[in-house]
This record gives sequence, structure tokens and C-alpha cells, in this order.
Amino acid sequence: MSTDTLVLKDQFPGLAGNWHYLDTGATAQKPQAVIDATVNALGRDYATVHRGVYARSADMTLAFEAARRKVAAFLGGHEDEIVFTRGATEAINLVAQSWAATNLKAGDRILLSVLEHHSNIVPWQLLRDRTGVEIDVCPLTEDGRIDLEAAERILTPAHKLVAFAHVSNVLGSVLHVEHAAKLAHAVGAKLLIDGCQAAPRIALDVAAMDCDFYVFSAHKLYGPTGIGALWAKKATLDAMPPWQGGGSMIDRVTFEKTTYAPAPQRFEAGTPMIVEAIGLAAAIDWLTAQGLDRAERHERDLAARLRAELGKRNDITLFGPADSVGIVSFAMDGVHPHDLGTILDEEGVAIRAGHHCAQPLMDHLGVPATARASFGLYSDDSDIEALMKGIERTRRIFG
Ligand SMILES: Cc1ncc(COP(=O)(O)O)c(C=O)c1O
Repeated sequence: MSTDTLVLKDQFPGLAGNWHYLDTGATAQKPQAVIDATVNALGRDYATVHRGVYARSADMTLAFEAARRKVAAFLGGHEDEIVFTRGATEAINLVAQSWAATNLKAGDRILLSVLEHHSNIVPWQLLRDRTGVEIDVCPLTEDGRIDLEAAERILTPAHKLVAFAHVSNVLGSVLHVEHAAKLAHAVGAKLLIDGCQAAPRIALDVAAMDCDFYVFSAHKLYGPTGIGALWAKKATLDAMPPWQGGGSMIDRVTFEKTTYAPAPQRFEAGTPMIVEAIGLAAAIDWLTAQGLDRAERHERDLAARLRAELGKRNDITLFGPADSVGIVSFAMDGVHPHDLGTILDEEGVAIRAGHHCAQPLMDHLGVPATARASFGLYSDDSDIEALMKGIERTRRIFG
């Protein structure tokens, strides 16, 4: 195997020691640049935003709003189209409880896919329970992509929303978003894209993709936990009612009547994630300096190399398409993924074993769980070699 290191592991304190971290799909390790930015925001520069009359608070407000602009540029949107949320999960719940609860009624339909993460299933089920909307499920192609030909057959004018993952967190398969947008818009539906696994790996341009909502979490993007973002077209956000009430999201409050701030502030009740926003901005700086095109190439290469190594074994079943990006799920004959994960841990290799918050996909694959290796920019051949060595040892133990 060739050695291809895109980013030196020593930029990542979390990777110190001979540890092979293959769980970046769950959460990415943080580069020192992000840690430093977060420490400064929490220490030297710390103050609240938006209401302080003193210079430190004004500076922090500038930094916080600069972070919003950075997210907007990262996605190809405009700053007043970015709502900071706690993460992708909260962003999807926001769309469900604000936009969908206002615009959808009993009998309207939502199209999801078999491979969705629970956070792109359960918010719609909660909505269904409250409003009587119906949920349809788009099947997958044999190799594990959302089947857009099937989507075209399923979609009708009753569909008001299509909500798909850009990159599957289990299979690494990549959605052709522009194609999905054409199909959704042809029947008058909006398209929500769950970009959790795409944002760290693929250059994004929401205008070119022509989706209506895009969500992601910072912690998968080398940034801190506790923050993510919702992007939506300005006109869509402007027409959405608030979903949580409190400070910061108001224009004027009296006991008789309250008027609300314009979007995006209308959706950000309470003191925001100040430190986290600064950390997210640093993560975007760091990631864009590496280059998203390089990131995608690197993660496609690593996934292909791991698939090739696993494919040499006759006791491994591989899931997902050959051209998956950054994520490889597999099963080992006669070994539960949890046992494999435990033995690999003894070897200093961290993988994820379980249903990956995608139980309907596990049902579809006919397995209770898979083993999943997922890569980051810091991953290299040494991680693949360690994993393959651990798999061989597991086989010796299980016979
Ligand atoms: C595809 C996908 N969607 C949504 C989520 C939820 O992200 P979070 O828990 O950060 O809100 C994840 C996280 O694993 C994911 O991989």
C-alpha cells in the first residue's frame, strides 16, 4: 500500500500515541487550530454577544457574526440564510416544527429514504403524529444509493418535502443532489439535505445543488460539539414562524403581543453558542485551507483501498457502493460487530459497531449491526493496516 498522508496527525492532540481512529463519521478529532480558537474564545476573549455595551462584547459580537458569514461562504449561501442550531438534529427538528408544521396538512406527503439517519426520520414521524402527514420511503439501488429513478416514480403533487442524506453515514454513498432537487421541484416539493457526512468531505454549493434546506453539525467537521447550522433560502426562512421563544429572537415584547426579530435571529432564542461558533469558524478555516477537493479525493481513495483489502478476505461482507466516500461498513462471518470492535480496541483501533442510528437500513441489509470504519483528513494507510491486522487477529481468536 502507498502512504498517503494529507494532514499530519500531530496537528491533532486527540490522535496522540499509536491510536488508529476510524470513527470520524461519529465525530472528528480536532486540530490544534480549532482547540486554540475555542480556548481563546472561552478565556482571553470571552464575553456575551449582541447586547453588551463594552468593547469586549462588541468584539465578540463581530466574531460571532463573522462566523455566520464564514458558514454562509462555506455553503455558498448568504449570511442571513444561516441559522445556528445545536447541530443537524436540531436543524431538522426546526424545519419540521416551523416550516413543515405551518405548511403541511393531513394528507400531504413527505419522501424519505431507507438509508436515513434517525434524525432525518423521527422528527417527521413526530410531525406525522401531530398533523396527519404521510411518510413514503424511497428504496435503494442494489449497491446502496438512494434510488432516484424510484423516487421519480413515487413522487406526486401531494409530496411537499423530500428529505435525503447527501452522504450515507453507514454506506458512504453519495446522493446526486441536483438530480434530487429537479425531481422534488417537478412536483412542487421542497428538498431538505442532511449534509452531516458530506460537509467534511465534499465541496458544497447550495445554489448549484438547488436544494431548499441544508443542515450539518460542526463536530463532524473538525469543529466543536453543540453547534451546527441550517441553511435555507431567505424567502423560505422569512415565511417561517419562530419555533422557540425567549431572549434574542424578539423585536418587542409586551404581555399583549410580541413581535419577532427577522430571520435568522428569529430562530435563535436565548444566549447563543458563542464559543462554539468561534470554534466552527476556525474549523471551516482549517478545512478550507486543506481544500475540500483534496479531502474528497483522499477519503474516496482511503475508502477504495480499505474496500480492496477487505474484499481480499472471504469472511467479510462489504456494504455500500464501490465509490463510497470516507465510510466503509462491513460484516465479518461468525463475529458480532461488537466483538470485533472490542478486539480492535485492544489493538488500538477505534471503529464503530452498531446500528449507526439507522435501524431501518439495518433491517434492509438484514443485519442487526455493522462494523464501520470512517476516515478523516488525518487518516492514512497505517490506519488501514492496523485495522486489517486487528481483523486477522479476531479471525484467529474466533477460529
Ligand atoms: C447522516 C447523519 N445525519 C444526522 C446526524 C446527526 O447529527 P448530530 O447528532 O450531530 O445532530 C448524523 C450523526 O451521526 C449523521 O451521520
